[in-house]
Amino acid sequence: MQNIEDTRKDLLARIEASDSPRDLLKGPELKQLFDVIKTLAPEERGAYGKQVNELRIALESAISDRESGVEDKAVEPIDVTAPWDVNASNIGLLPTQQGTQHPLTLELENVINIFTRMGFDAIESRQIDDDDHMFGTLNFPENHPARDGYDTFRTEEGFIPPAHTSTMQHRILKAGKAQLEAGGQIAAVSYGRVFRNEDVDATHEHTFYQCEGVFVSRDATLGQMLGTLRDFFETYYGQKLKIKTQPAYFPFVEPGLEFAIERPAALGGKDGEWLEMLGCGMIHPNVLQAADIDPAKYRGFAWGGGIERLVMLKYGIEDLRHFESGKLQFLRKFL
Ligand code: PHE
Repeated sequence: MQNIEDTRKDLLARIEASDSPRDLLKGPELKQLFDVIKTLAPEERGAYGKQVNELRIALESAISDRESGVEDKAVEPIDVTAPWDVNASNIGLLPTQQGTQHPLTLELENVINIFTRMGFDAIESRQIDDDDHMFGTLNFPENHPARDGYDTFRTEEGFIPPAHTSTMQHRILKAGKAQLEAGGQIAAVSYGRVFRNEDVDATHEHTFYQCEGVFVSRDATLGQMLGTLRDFFETYYGQKLKIKTQPAYFPFVEPGLEFAIERPAALGGKDGEWLEMLGCGMIHPNVLQAADIDPAKYRGFAWGGGIERLVMLKYGIEDLRHFESGKLQFLRKFL
């Protein structure tokens, strides 16, 4: 009679090593254990059956982990005091010569390059800010329910790790006012990490990246904004795209829109699958006014959206959590 513990050890080791671990569930080892049940005295069956069943559940969970790559193979223990030649390393770490920037850093650079080639300045967003920049200057009235939509963290002192890169809008407008009044225009993108108090799943993270655009001139139009965005997306994905917009509410723009692209066939799309990529609109007069820019003389547009979503579509990444996982299996694909 096969001992349950021996089978457990044997199968767990083989699950780790196998390329198709799920087949092991159908193999003779588990079946033999189940077959034993009918040979036992009725009063022994319950306890034994329970143990075998628990084993089966544990194996299934190990198989799922293996399949989803949750657990990397165990690495050899490291003697941290031993002299170590990084290139001779066989412990599964990356030798420094082959290391690279994080895929999000690389892609963010790519995004910023496209906008700077169009003539936008690029400004890094803050990782800690205040209520006035996150909400007040963006035309969110005190206690307005739209504030709740941003699930903001707050420090004990009342500071906010910003929940969107729009937190830079007021600064961009104030800094650009003189240039605007000298006959120029304001054209800037702000980019960086943003934070929301959200449960993490395949499409939500508490920490992610956004890129935001702000443009102000005497005669900015919605048409210019859509042209700019189309140009950006077509350059980023290297192909012609179908775009559409639908109305959306953000207190700092009027009208406000959601901007969507049709998933290109080259990226696994079927006709009519629309992906919402960002929020945008004409800058609300109150937002211009807060920066002392006269809304009767100047008009602007702004947009903001997540970087992960862009990158996921480009590379067919199905789960947002890969980015922050630090898993080499994932990161190596971007070497
Ligand atoms: N800040 C908005 C968000 O994160 C997006 C947005 C930016 C909408 C600029 C309009 C204009 O949801």
